[in-house]
Amino acid sequence: MIAIGSDHGGFALKQEVMAHLKDRGIEFKDYGTYDEKSCDYPEYGKKVANAVVSGEAEKGILICGTGIGISITANKIKGIRCALCADTFSAEATRLHNDANVLAMGGRTVGPGLALKIVDTFLDTEFSGEERHIRRISMIEED
Ligand code: RB5
Repeated sequence: MIAIGSDHGGFALKQEVMAHLKDRGIEFKDYGTYDEKSCDYPEYGKKVANAVVSGEAEKGILICGTGIGISITANKIKGIRCALCADTFSAEATRLHNDANVLAMGGRTVGPGLALKIVDTFLDTEFSGEERHIRRISMIEED
């Protein structure tokens, strides 16, 4: 299951992403927000991040206006590796190298056509499993 969330700035793009996931037959759960009323992105960033670290969701997708605030929020949660992507190269590389478990995008910075390609690339790319990447990911978690 994919956990998805946004603030008002990411709401419109989130609708496109959810329709796409539905078309692809990918199970997802929408953690809000549920309309375009102004709201606080940390609330939704935390909800999706917690769903991923608890194991309720396999991966997460977060969208705010720029993707910045919501990715900063998610990355405060231990175990979350949230990648803000605006291109498919980064979406592929962050799965291969960082084993990113949450994708963040900006609803005001990325058009829907590109965003859906980024989502597909992120969801369809497996972690490389290479030793150097495993080592670097472990180092992120060190205090
Ligand atoms: C909301 O206006 C906007 O600040 C938010 O969506 C996001 O871009 C924050 O990083």
